[in-house]
Amino acid sequence: MRTTGNKGQLQARLSEVRNKGQRIAFVPTMGNLHEGHIQLVRRAREKADVVVVSIYVNPLQFGAGEDLENYPRTLAADKEKLFGEGAHLLYTPDTADIYPEGLQRHTQVEVPDLSETLCGSSRPGHFNGVTTIVAKLFNIVRPDIALFGEKDFQQLSIVRKMVTDLCMPVEVIGVPTVRDIDGLALSSRNSYLSPAQRRIAPLLHETLASCRDAIACGFDNFLQLESHARMKLLQAGFTPDYFAIRDAHTLRNVTEDTEEIAILAAARLGRTRLIDNVRLSLN
Ligand code: PAJ
Repeated sequence: MRTTGNKGQLQARLSEVRNKGQRIAFVPTMGNLHEGHIQLVRRAREKADVVVVSIYVNPLQFGAGEDLENYPRTLAADKEKLFGEGAHLLYTPDTADIYPEGLQRHTQVEVPDLSETLCGSSRPGHFNGVTTIVAKLFNIVRPDIALFGEKDFQQLSIVRKMVTDLCMPVEVIGVPTVRDIDGLALSSRNSYLSPAQRRIAPLLHETLASCRDAIACGFDNFLQLESHARMKLLQAGFTPDYFAIRDAHTLRNVTEDTEEIAILAAARLGRTRLIDNVRLSLN
């Protein structure tokens, strides 16, 4: 596995790959890799000849007072994991390589509507930061395919919409959420949880799953289901941010045209913000 923090070097290596007619898969990450990220790398290896992973904690997608400074950085351990999984190229830029003229007044990519709801309303500007860095990384790497986790379902939807709207020549592949044995979705932010909070945390997925089961059984008072779920989370010690039953395609309210439902939640345990989602096909 070759590692570089320099986009020119990465691009030189990738043009050799492209000249050989090899397919490139790309997995963008912020590091502190766990089994969820590793699953993306495994899928990437199945689907392409060369797997490129990036590790970059992108300041543009963090709001004031969020965890940019404290975000776990574990590069040596990450490299070992990626090497073990057979990733071919690792790009670890610093901010000078990505934003050479600084973040202020940098061009931004904005996907309207989808990026304003749910996490977008509690984290203003967050998704513009995500789409801007993902667009830049796509232009640097020029992958044939790119893999994203369904754990960040809204992020995945927004990236798909950006790729469609801007005619980007990349196929976006969603990978199912990897969970701990008790249902908690793996996340780098789980390491912030105290032992007591970690015991409560699986209730987020449990609440989503029981809401999905109620809908599957024909219960269709969504407002009641949402407020019941929020109450359950509150009583357990979470501060719910949202718990929403939405159309999985539009992320708007469910209509008679909805074919798949996504139930999405974000809730804080102490200072740690957890997100998760489940889906239900109506066909
Ligand atoms: P990060 O949180 O490091 O996640 C990198 C990728 O791993 C994302 O596509 C995310 O959805 C996926 N992932 C995280 N936990 C997962 C899990 N438990 N199961 C399956 N996939 C999981 O998401 C980001 O970084 C950034 O916003 C990024 C896209 C890199 C842009 O900066």
